[in-house]
Amino acid sequence: MSLILCIKRFLFVGLVVTPFISSAEEMTPEQQFEIGKQKALVCITCHGADGISATETYPNLQGQKQQYLVAALKAYKQNQRVDGLAILMQGYAKDLSDQDMKDLAYYFSNVKTDTTHQSQ
Ligand code: HEC
Repeated sequence: MSLILCIKRFLFVGLVVTPFISSAEEMTPEQQFEIGKQKALVCITCHGADGISATETYPNLQGQKQQYLVAALKAYKQNQRVDGLAILMQGYAKDLSDQDMKDLAYYFSNVKTDTTHQSQ
């Protein structure tokens, strides 16, 4: 009896409360990838949709470690990376939240080149 009550309560709490407490931390990997992809729309002109840049002076991001990407973005945001072409990145990094950086890093770290529809 009490087990059934317990299950009912669990279901009730789950259904009613989940929409309010679902935070970015609870995203599935697929959701985070899609969100990162959306946020990356401004980045791909330089870094490529698959994180492989078409320009020699713009770095590839595909497959890079997530923590490294987040650290690099923070460094641009905090004007700790200032050499060379860093100025190009500072403008983009300054508006990114910590969550944006995590999502973007997740995307570029996991994105693969789509070899089935390659146009080149
Ligand atoms: C106008 C072109 C341009 C755009 C747009 C751009 N980047 Fe960059 N990005 C660069 C260049 C150039 C560098 C190398 C800068 C340097 O020398 O530090 C760079 C460096 C980086 C690095 C460091 C890579 C490493 O190996 O250290 C990261 C991470 C990065 N960009 C992420 C992003 C993200 C995320 C966005 C979108 C929010 C973005 N970039 C938008 C041109 C661009």
